[in-house]
Amino acid sequence: MPVNLSNGKPLAWDSPGLDADTKAMLDNLQPNILQAHVREHLSVLFVHFDDGPDGKRFLRGLVALMKSARKHLEEVRAFNKTQAPGTPYVGVGISKLGYLKLGHSTTGFTDNAFKSGLKRRKDTLSDPPVSSWEAPYQKEIHAVVLIGDATEAPVTATRERVLALLPASATIVGEETGQGLRNAQGRGIEHFGYIDGRSQPLFLADQVAEESGHNWTPFFPLSHVLAADPLAPKPSRHMGSYLVFRKLEQNVRAFRQAEEDLADGLGLAGADRALAGAMLVGRFRNGTPLRLHGKPSSDGHPVQNDFSYRDDLGSKCPVSAHIRKANPRDSKDGGLERILGVMMARRGQTYGTRTDTPWDDAPPQTRPTGGVGLLFMAFNASLQAQFEFTQQTWADNPDFPAEGSGHDPVTGQGKRDVKVVFPKVWGGDEFGSPQPQVPQTVTLKGGEYFFMPSLAYLKSL
Ligand code: HEM
Repeated sequence: MPVNLSNGKPLAWDSPGLDADTKAMLDNLQPNILQAHVREHLSVLFVHFDDGPDGKRFLRGLVALMKSARKHLEEVRAFNKTQAPGTPYVGVGISKLGYLKLGHSTTGFTDNAFKSGLKRRKDTLSDPPVSSWEAPYQKEIHAVVLIGDATEAPVTATRERVLALLPASATIVGEETGQGLRNAQGRGIEHFGYIDGRSQPLFLADQVAEESGHNWTPFFPLSHVLAADPLAPKPSRHMGSYLVFRKLEQNVRAFRQAEEDLADGLGLAGADRALAGAMLVGRFRNGTPLRLHGKPSSDGHPVQNDFSYRDDLGSKCPVSAHIRKANPRDSKDGGLERILGVMMARRGQTYGTRTDTPWDDAPPQTRPTGGVGLLFMAFNASLQAQFEFTQQTWADNPDFPAEGSGHDPVTGQGKRDVKVVFPKVWGGDEFGSPQPQVPQTVTLKGGEYFFMPSLAYLKSL
């Protein structure tokens, strides 16, 4: 019996009654897909193979440094009980061109976006031309190796071990270093200063049990993140996931200036000025959802995620806010079912160092204009139906969720002609005059689509 991906229940991964196929799936699935792996320090290596058989040997050699999803979940459990640190994360993804270089056919892969490669999706995604990407990303990338841990030393040591396996015929064409950014309370933030990674689709029973809500259910079936590995010995039990990797540079100065200009435009004074940025993101910097509160109230409390946009036409959370565009939850025009089909497992990490304090109110001119951003990564069962759909049909579409809603102010790409409206007072009935959408402050510097194959496939090479 193949693994049941559409089971209506979260996966009880440690249940003694688990069937043999699901057990085999967990023993052969890479970590970081079903549950985020700690990657406070992250090294990302992009590899080009000149020789297929050498490439296969390299990938097979990496298995010795990798662990399964089950091993990772056991490590997480041990850590929660005794604080015992786990082993480093090593993840491997292969691009469509990579599979061809290894001598495989890609006909078994069902995702057309993957089979095109990111460079050829620029029109769909309104991406900047490939000629403007950073040089390494303009090259042909065959594989990506992700190395992550809580501290730097194991990442450095594991990176050395990976490089030691690299054959002379392969080249590291590019490399990124991710480094977690944390606010004064130690919570993970992105470079505009906002708590990130709070809202995630949850697949596992222990995770769902910790976070069940009345207004929003974070549970999603495995079919939203897993896909059969067509080249594995048994695709019905050996699974993988499609990874989107996009290096997104953030112009923090321009975004902070846009927040100030919007606060002026809306006549906000004093502590209320924080509302301007919250109306762009959908949460205050400390994660407080604008749908629930008009003031940042999360400090020292858990960051809430149990909310929907039912009964809010934008008087609390504007319809153009990033988190509302990227996950409309059960708003009027998007049925829960459709939305459930789109959520991807976001596993990004910030890059670049800062000399300022990212979460404070210092003026925009003290902020970086480049060199910092997000290594956006997300796992999908279908790149077309999840990542691309979110970017193209929601973020870049000014008529979503309703006509004239405007672009996503954070990640929207394309011409921002449509003006946006904001409530005059948080929760009030009156809306202010239409404002031009804030300028684009996030720029794609390059990326690629990969498939994260099963360990069974890697061992078979
Ligand atoms: C530099 C670029 C980006 C920044 C600064 C950013 C920032 C944020 C922040 C601050 C949150 C709120 C934290 C949370 O709810 O988990 C968030 C949530 C989210 N973002 Fe982004 N993001 C970026 C790129 C993207 C992209 C490219 C996509 C997809 C195309 C995306 C999709 C989402 C989704 C789905 C959520 C969760 C919304 C929810 O469930 O309520 N983000 N992002």
